[in-house]
Amino acid sequence: MEQLLQEMEDYAVQQHIPIINVRGREMFLHVVRECRPHHVLEIGTAIGYSTLLIAMNAAANVHITTFELDEARAQIAESYLQRSAYAQCIDIRIGNAGEELCKLAGSFDFVFIDAAKGQYVDYFHKILPLLSNNAVVLADNVLFRGYVLGDGKPPRRYRTIVKRLREYIELVGHMPGFVTDIYENGDGLAVSRRIEHDKQA
Ligand SMILES: C[S@@+](CC[C@H](N)C(=O)[O-])C[C@H]1O[C@@H](n2cnc3c(N)ncnc32)[C@H](O)[C@@H]1O
Repeated sequence: MEQLLQEMEDYAVQQHIPIINVRGREMFLHVVRECRPHHVLEIGTAIGYSTLLIAMNAAANVHITTFELDEARAQIAESYLQRSAYAQCIDIRIGNAGEELCKLAGSFDFVFIDAAKGQYVDYFHKILPLLSNNAVVLADNVLFRGYVLGDGKPPRRYRTIVKRLREYIELVGHMPGFVTDIYENGDGLAVSRRIEHDKQA
C-alpha cells in the first residue's frame, strides 16, 4: 500500500493535483485514527489519495462515499483505488457535491471537506442532517495560506475565498452541539466534533 501511496504522490506532483499537504497529513491521520469511522463521506476525491489514507486508518469495515466534480480525476482515482485492498469499500460519485449532497441519505460518522473552498458553509449545512450523534467533520485549507486569521490583506483574487473560509470558521465555531478546534498544521484544519446529544447542556 505504501508503494501505491508513493505512486499517487508522485503523480500528484507531476500533474499539479492538490492532495492533502504533507505538513497537514499527520494531524489528518491522527483525527481519523481517533475517530475510527465506519461511515465516511468525502467531498473532493481528486485522485483518491486522502480516500485511501482514510480507508487505511478507519474501522475495518469502513464504507466511504466520495464526491469528485472532475470526471477524469475520478477515473484516475478509481484506477488507483482498484489496486488497493479497499476497492469494495469505496464508492466514487462524479458530480457537483453542492447538488449531490442534497440527494444523499445515510448517517456518517466522519466527513472530510476538501473541495471548493468558497462552498464549505453550503456543504456544512447540507451534511448536518447526515451526521451521526458523535460525528467528526474535518475541513482542510481553512487557514488558506495564512490569510484567514492573519492581519495581512489577501491579494484581490483570494478575497472571496478568504471571506468564505472566515464565514466557515465562524459557523462551525458557534454551531450548537459541536466543539471545533482549528489546527495550523498544513494549510489549516478545522475539526468539528459533535457532542453526543446526551452530553449536551
Ligand atoms: C484539494 S483536491 C482534493 C484532494 C484530496 N482530498 C486529497 O487530499 O487527496 C479538491 C478536489 O475537489 C474537487 N471539487 C471542486 N469542486 C467540487 C465540487 N463542487 N464537487 C465535487 N468536487 C469538487 C476538485 O476537482 C478537486 O479534485
